[in-house]
Amino acid sequence: MKRPCVLVTGGAGYIGSHTAVELIAAGFDAVLVDDLSNSEVAVIEGVRAITGRDVPFVEADCCDREALERIFTRYEFGSAIHFAASKAVGESLREPMKYYRNNLLSFMNLVELMHETGRRNIVFSSSCTVYGEPRRLPVTERTPRRPAASPYGNTKQICEDILRDAIAAGGGALRGIALRYFNPIGAHPSALIGELPRGVPQNLLPYITQTAAGIRDCLSVYGGDYPTPDGSCIRDYIDVGDLARAHVAAIRHMTGGADVRPYEVYNIGTGRGVSVLELIRRFEQVNRVKVDYKIAGRRAGDIPAIWADPALAAERLDWRAERTLDQTLASAWAWQKRLSGIE
Ligand code: UD1
Repeated sequence: MKRPCVLVTGGAGYIGSHTAVELIAAGFDAVLVDDLSNSEVAVIEGVRAITGRDVPFVEADCCDREALERIFTRYEFGSAIHFAASKAVGESLREPMKYYRNNLLSFMNLVELMHETGRRNIVFSSSCTVYGEPRRLPVTERTPRRPAASPYGNTKQICEDILRDAIAAGGGALRGIALRYFNPIGAHPSALIGELPRGVPQNLLPYITQTAAGIRDCLSVYGGDYPTPDGSCIRDYIDVGDLARAHVAAIRHMTGGADVRPYEVYNIGTGRGVSVLELIRRFEQVNRVKVDYKIAGRRAGDIPAIWADPALAAERLDWRAERTLDQTLASAWAWQKRLSGIE
């Protein structure tokens, strides 16, 4: 039987590549598209090595409508997962137009082409950043969105709205799911793919692994005086493989599930909050390495605490985070050791 095929934009990226692996493991085919602006073609080789398949890859920018159109003409797929976007919060504050152009145009092109060519199912990679600083924890999908604190966050909100509105106007031709990710971390257990930060990592775990590997001298913990039990910020760290499997669950739900609504939104997290200091300690214990850190000032725009109520995804998508934090932290270190050539 022919395997159903899914278009994965941003397929050479951190979450896109892990999702391609999980799609193929679940019996789908995947066509990967990426402009390689923040990724490397070696990642595609990693996906091919893990899956044992010659996964098709097209180097293209989704903002280029004609290039995207050619992909739609060439490949047969009924669903698309859209990852292709810029994702650095600080950079988005300095270069807002880059973020609005790249993140909005690429998604509008995709949604229009899906509609025009009679393809139905779209998964959009959103973020818990849409909740801003929530008044109550954990956040459910009913927790109101708050005005975005950055152009990056704003593009996530606007893309959710684009999807919702295009579906409402599409007369049943389109369906969509926005997955609001909490904090993705870790790497594939094979250590063949993982996160590839460019330059100095902005996110916590790559900074931890690079400090443990000796690439960075000392990790700055941004803020030790938050109103949390140990004074550091609390986040919901989700294993990237678990997150990837949430996309497979979303596609399955849209293509075969009962009681599918035209547009649905799900939190994708573990339901557990972990502080920065807890994460560092756990990383050190699990991997038996030292991470030098100091408590530094707060980072502008950070919120003290956020974690998910993931019950809706469990109930309707039959998806739950499965990997333990220890497994995830071990995978992140295995990946860093491979990158750094540490035995
Ligand atoms: C950030 C973005 C979020 C985005 C996500 C993915 C904000 C407010 N949120 O999440 O929208 O989807 O990245 O890239 O910017 N930390 C340190 N030292 C470091 C780095 C981080 O202490 O060197 C702390 C931060 O203060 C935070 C936690 O670690 O409390 C996690 O930070 P990070 O990995 O950057 O993710 P978020 O800020 O939660």
